[in-house]
Amino acid sequence: MSRSQAALPGSVSATHIWKRYRPDSRRSVVQETLSAIRRRQRRRARWVLRDVELEVQPGEAVALIGLNGSGKSTLLKVLAGVTHPNAGQLDIGGRIGALIEVRSGIHPDLSGRENALFYGTVLGLSRRQVMDRFDDIVDFAELSGAIDRQVKFYSSGMQMRLGFSIAAFLEPDILLVDEALAVGDVGFQQRCLERMKDVLNQGTTLIFVSHDMAAVEAMCQRTVWLDDGVIRSDGPTADTLGRYRVGLEEKAALLARLLDDPVRMTQLSATSIDEALPETGRPLLLGLTLASEMSGPVDLCVGVSEGPATPIFTLTRSVDLRVGENDLRCTIENLPLPKGRYYVWLGAFGPGGSTQMPWHPAAPLDVEGPPRHPPPRGVMQLSPVHVTARWDARGSESTSFQREPTDGTAAALLSPR
Ligand SMILES: Nc1ncnc2c1ncn2[C@@H]1O[C@H](COP(=O)(O)OP(=O)(O)OP(=O)(O)O)[C@@H](O)[C@H]1O
Ligand SMILES: [Mg+2]
Repeated sequence: MSRSQAALPGSVSATHIWKRYRPDSRRSVVQETLSAIRRRQRRRARWVLRDVELEVQPGEAVALIGLNGSGKSTLLKVLAGVTHPNAGQLDIGGRIGALIEVRSGIHPDLSGRENALFYGTVLGLSRRQVMDRFDDIVDFAELSGAIDRQVKFYSSGMQMRLGFSIAAFLEPDILLVDEALAVGDVGFQQRCLERMKDVLNQGTTLIFVSHDMAAVEAMCQRTVWLDDGVIRSDGPTADTLGRYRVGLEEKAALLARLLDDPVRMTQLSATSIDEALPETGRPLLLGLTLASEMSGPVDLCVGVSEGPATPIFTLTRSVDLRVGENDLRCTIENLPLPKGRYYVWLGAFGPGGSTQMPWHPAAPLDVEGPPRHPPPRGVMQLSPVHVTARWDARGSESTSFQREPTDGTAAALLSPR
C-alpha cells in the first residue's frame, strides 16, 4: 500500500483498496466455555473492503451508504489514515478533518478544550490557529458549560457535538463525517446540515456516511453504495438511492415470502383506470387477494413506501376475513406521488394489536408522471408528495401580481419530499 500527499488539495483517489480484519485473538468468557466447539471452527480473516475505487474531486460532496457492517466506517478510517489497507493506492490532497463514529478521534481522558487543541495539532494547525476558532467550536457544540470537563463524562450526543464541531471548524480540505446526525437532537441535526453546507461553499470536499436517506439527498449530489465491502453503485444520488431502496425492499419482500403467518397476500395488482399504468394525479386501483387461516375482523393496513418500512402514506380499513381466499379492492382517488419506483406495503392486525400478517413490502409500484424536484442543499424532505401549484409573483418594480398563464403547462409543479 502506498499513501501519497502529492494530489490537489481536497482531492481523494483510492484505487484497488483491500482491507482485511483478523478475528479477535482474545477470547471472551463465553468463548472459553465453548472452546471445544470453537476449536472445530476455522478462524478466518475477513475481507471488509474488496477492490474499492473512489475518486473524489476537490469541493465535491459524496455520500456513502450501505447496510450495517458493509464497510463504510472502515473506508473512512482508511482515507483518514486511522487504519491501513492491506493493499491499494491512496492519494489524498491536503488536510483531513474526520468524525468517524461517535468516539473516534476524541480522547475520553482529555477535556473538550484539550481535545480541540490536540486535534488541531494533529491537523497541522498551530495553537494560535486553533484558539482563533475555539469560540466557534464551543458555541456550535453548545458546550460552554462543559468544555473543561473530561470527555468521558459527556453524553453520546455531547461527544458527537464536540467531534463534529472540531472536525468542521478547523477548516480541513476534506471533511469525513460518519453518522453525525444519528445521536443529535433535531435542532442540532439541522445545524450540522447547515454547517456542512457552509463548509462545502468554502470549497471543502465532503464524504458523508449516513443511514438517513433524506440527509444524503439534502447534502450530496453523488452517492456511493457499499455492499459487503464492494461498491455496488456510484453515481447521481437519485440513481444510487433508487437502486439501494429497490435492493432493500426486494430483500424484505423475499424474507416476507418465507414467513408462515395466518394471513398471507397471494395476489396484488396496481393499475390506473382501464388497466393503464399508475400515473401521478390519476386514480390508483389496488386489487389484492389474501389467503387466511383465520376468520374474523382485522385492521388491514396498506401503505406506499420508497424506503424500507417507512411509508409515505398509509390507509387502514377494518375487514372481516373468512377462512380461504378474500378479494379486496381499494381505489385511491388521486395518486399523490411523482414519477418513480415505490413499493406497496401491507399488514393485518387483529383485535388487541395481534399481528396476523406482518408489515411487509408486497409488490413494486412504478408510477409515471412529472419527476420530483430535488430539495435545496441542506434541506431534508421526508417523503415525495406531488403537489400541483400555481405561482403569482410581484416584483419590486411591479405594482400588480403577475399571474402565470393558467393553461396546464404553466402550472408550477412542487414535489416536496
Ligand atoms: N477493528 C476491527 N476488528 C475486526 N473487525 C472489524 C473491526 N472494525 C470493523 N470490523 C468489521 O468490519 C466490518 C465492517 O465494519 P464497518 O464498521 O466498516 O461497517 P459500517 O458500514 O460502518 O456499518 P454501520 O452502518 O453499522 O456503521 C464489520 O463486519 C465489522 O465487524
Ligand atoms: Mg459505521
